[in-house]
Order: sequence, then structure tokens, then C-alpha cells
Amino acid sequence: MRKLWIFALLVSLVAAFAGMAAAAEKTLVVGFSQIGAESGWRTAETDSVISAAKELGIDLKFSDAQQKQENQIKAIRSFIAQGVDGILLAPVVETGWEPVLTEAQNAKIPVILLDRGITVNDDSLYVCKITSDFVFEGREAAKWVAKELGGKGSVVQLQGTPGASAATERQKGFEEEIAKTPDIKILESQTGDFTMELGKQVMEAFLKKYGKDINAVYAHNDDMGLGAIQAIKEAGLKPGEDIKIITVDATKAAFEAMVAGEMNAVVECNPLLGPLAYETLKKAIAGEKIDKWIVQKDELFTKDQAASVIGSRKY
Ligand code: AHR
Repeated sequence: MRKLWIFALLVSLVAAFAGMAAAAEKTLVVGFSQIGAESGWRTAETDSVISAAKELGIDLKFSDAQQKQENQIKAIRSFIAQGVDGILLAPVVETGWEPVLTEAQNAKIPVILLDRGITVNDDSLYVCKITSDFVFEGREAAKWVAKELGGKGSVVQLQGTPGASAATERQKGFEEEIAKTPDIKILESQTGDFTMELGKQVMEAFLKKYGKDINAVYAHNDDMGLGAIQAIKEAGLKPGEDIKIITVDATKAAFEAMVAGEMNAVVECNPLLGPLAYETLKKAIAGEKIDKWIVQKDELFTKDQAASVIGSRKY
């Protein structure tokens, strides 16, 4: 009788351990709502999230919203319907997320904001945001412009997507900081939607209107800055010399432009967020406390540093 009892106990212990092991090995299912593929930076971020999922054995459901918030909302609803364990959201704009994030919260699915922030009445609708400090990036760019122009001159601003935190905050940081140098004027600011094509078009219009009065371009991302370079060349001017150019992102393409002497400086914005996103999501699922803002540290590089740094750039 006693032997039988011990045997039954052993069987139930083995079953319990097997259950625990299976639970521990359960594949994590994650939905990632990406904005689109508007820039080199965005492609690097997508690659980082996809390749980290592969390395970690995560089942990733990827959705490209083609720059549209309505597509992101549809994707999140589909992730909820599929019962994913967590959602990564790179929000195209800051506002309008309450209804769908409330649905995710009701379904007990943690949402992590990747690369851009949002404005909601209730911060508990998302776990945290993993982003760079865009205001800092704008300030760094303004300090560089003020120094490079010797405290006097005119600058045009190529803005990112209207309503995107990366655009509003990069503008805020830049304008607040540049205001400390009153002899530097912002001639005009226009959106180039974070794309090379629109960056070029807007720069063409600026050149027609202001011509050689433009001393510097501040572009909210590399792609728009690279578009501006083309426009400046086509206007018969020398980018990097006649008109100084500073952008944000620090992709390889921007470093190449600096090595070629056509771009003057870049403020880094780290897109390699995949590994940290999953690490944070796992902690959230395990019920650990998580900082509301996990800030990525960025630095400014000038064209003088470009040749020696380009080989070590990872995106
Ligand atoms: O949100 C990050 C910004 O979005 C990057 O600077 C830009 O290149 C991208 O499109």
C-alpha cells in the first residue's frame, strides 16, 4: 500500500515538472505594428525586431501600416483576436490610441511603445516607451548649428511626419535651443514626412524662395537630409560647404555623405531596439516593475569623425 502511495506521488511530481517545463518553453507570441518603411532608420528598426525574434525563438506577427494610423489600429485588433502574449507598437502619431489600447488592456495584453511616444489620458494603457530623447536630439542639433554658423545666420527646418512625437519633440528641442542665439533665424519649417523624396521637394521650394540666404539645413531625419543634398546640388550649390547640413538618425548613408563632405553632422537615434523590446516584454509578462520611459542614449557625430567611425556603425 505504502509503495503504491510513493509511486503515485512520484508520478504526480514528474507530471508537475513536465507541466512546468512545458510552460517555461511555451513560445512567446508577439505582435509588432510597424509604421512603414519610410526611411533607412525604419528598415533598420524592423530588421532588429525581426532578427531578435528569430534568435530568441519568438513567434512574431509583423504588420506594416504603410504610414496609416487606421492600419495600426486594425493590426492591434487582429493581434488581440489572435490572443498574442504582447504587443510592440511604433505609433505613427501621438494621439488617438485610447480606444484600441483599452481593448488590449481589457484583454490583458501588455503593450510596449517602440521608438515613438503617445499622449493618452491614462498612462496605464501601455507598459512603457522605449525611445530616444527627441527633445535632446533637437537641442544638440541647435547647439551645433549655432556654433557652426558662428552665432549668426539663417536655417531651414525639414520636419518629420506631422503629429509624430519624433517630429514635434525634435522641433521643440531645436527651436527652444536656437532661440538662445537671437541672430540665428529659422527662415521656414515644412514637413518632408521623414522621406527622401519629400525632403528633396521641400528643399527645392526653399531654395527657390530663399536661395543663397540659406546657411544651414536642420532635417529631422537622414533621409530628408539626403534629399536636401540632391536639391542643393541640382541648384548648383555645394552641400556641406555653401549650405551646412545636420540631420538626425546617423545611418550608414548619412556617414557616407559626411565622408564625401556633403553632410556636416548627425545626431544619433538608435533603431536597434529589438533585443531590449523582448527583454522588457518578458519582464512585464512576469509582473516585474518597469520604468515608464526607457531612454536610449544618443550622441552627435561630425564629418571630421565620420571616416574613423563609419566602420563601427551597426546600421
Ligand atoms: O521615430 C523615429 C524616426 O522615424 C526616425 O528618425 C526616422 O528616420 C523615422 O522615420
